[in-house]
Amino acid sequence: MFTDKHLLVISNRLPVAISGEEGDWHVEQSAGGLVTALSPLLKKNKGVWIGWAGCNPDVPVHQLLKSYCENLDCELIPVLLTEDEVTNYYRGFANRAIWPLFHDLLGHATFSAEQWEVYVDVNRKFAQAIVPHIKPDSFIWIHDYQLMLVGHFLREMGITKHLSFFLHIPFPSRDLFRRLPWKNDILQGLLKYDHIGFQTPHDRRNFIHCIRWLLPKAFIKASKRESIMNYEDREVKLGFYPISIDFNEFNDGAKSPEVEEAAWFVHENLKSRTLVLGLDRLDYTKGIAERFLAFERMLEKYPDVHGNISLIQVVIPSRLHVEEYQDLKESLDTLAGRINGRFSKFGWVPIHYMFRSLDRVQLLGHYRACEIALITPLRDGMNLVAKEYCASSVDNNGVLILSEFAGAAEQLGKYAIVVNPYDLEGTADAIYSAYIMEPKERQRRMKQLRSEIRRNDVHRWVRWFLSAYTEKNTVIYQTNEISKSV
Ligand code: G6P
Repeated sequence: MFTDKHLLVISNRLPVAISGEEGDWHVEQSAGGLVTALSPLLKKNKGVWIGWAGCNPDVPVHQLLKSYCENLDCELIPVLLTEDEVTNYYRGFANRAIWPLFHDLLGHATFSAEQWEVYVDVNRKFAQAIVPHIKPDSFIWIHDYQLMLVGHFLREMGITKHLSFFLHIPFPSRDLFRRLPWKNDILQGLLKYDHIGFQTPHDRRNFIHCIRWLLPKAFIKASKRESIMNYEDREVKLGFYPISIDFNEFNDGAKSPEVEEAAWFVHENLKSRTLVLGLDRLDYTKGIAERFLAFERMLEKYPDVHGNISLIQVVIPSRLHVEEYQDLKESLDTLAGRINGRFSKFGWVPIHYMFRSLDRVQLLGHYRACEIALITPLRDGMNLVAKEYCASSVDNNGVLILSEFAGAAEQLGKYAIVVNPYDLEGTADAIYSAYIMEPKERQRRMKQLRSEIRRNDVHRWVRWFLSAYTEKNTVIYQTNEISKSV
């Protein structure tokens, strides 16, 4: 049984955030589906999570995490990164080469041999940090694009155990991937894992195309659920597992009196308006500037909405040490100001733009208060905001507008209004159709969206991924939509 295993989870970041200052440190669990889903498994057999704590080297991380874990049934092990490693591995190769390239935004990518070398070194460092924690019954699960080579180094260190890897971001097409100067190293490194999970069939297909082209000796036995690849006497299982959220947590939370009050507060302050919500981490992949322009186009085309609709755009600060993110922030400030300057009238502002994080109650309050969610990334591995919005739409009254380039569109596209975020006219029209949509139709669509997310929540995602390891295959993803597109 998998549940008897000792779970070792490895991700770039630990699932906690450390804040404060000398003598007054705070360690808090980060929000997120992965943490919620893995916590029970980690606690069962005193599992271990290894990752970077995201803070300066002078913070007493070991000590803080040790006391934080005293009352938990699991261990958090920090990997300490030097300033040079943070610059070249995290801000550099991971976020300036892989991140834009894998999100189809080649124009944002820079390739530096120095950063690549540090990426390789840090992956080796993670592998070294893992080895002392491996037990005979450990199940090792490595996450995301920052750590694609950890499997390779674990093999070099003599680890023969089953290694699983899940890629949370998209995998690019062959034509894009070939631009990466270290494409062969990455592919061969990935093939040192025994099981690789992608978000969607599309990502897995892209990966297989790259393998067929760059490693013609690899032999692939394709199947709907999990393809098997044979390469250099190794067998690698390739599957797709769309990540999800804890549906009940959002659904129940959204019904709480505090959230009802927070939702009322949002609406009361923006009386008799249809509210459209955009909520993203600051990132050029999220298409926030394009969304502002589409909203502007909608205001131009449909003057009857003036005074009756507002976009609430929440941008959560992120990666501000990377220059591009600072530039993006400036251009969003300017754009929102320009559009508001052009259309605002007494008592009405078209875009309410906030650059900050929301606490849990505020977040759910915004989900509940807004009649429309406008989720238009240029490319996204999945986009959990889309799922959170639907799970919180307890009155079945919200309309989801979703980019066709978000992984979530493969699952939710049938009942959302699907748009191409590069098509400003089409997105403007989609906002207007959501605005005039009849309540009956909104309810019909939202009920379907919610039942899809309820059925395929993050707990099923974990079981589904792990069933590939146990080979029992007892958990079947419950939608026909996705399997058709393999
Ligand atoms: C995406 C990535 C994660 C990453 C997160 C936040 O969701 O897939 O691996 O942790 O963004 O980004 P950050 O750079 O702040 O860790």
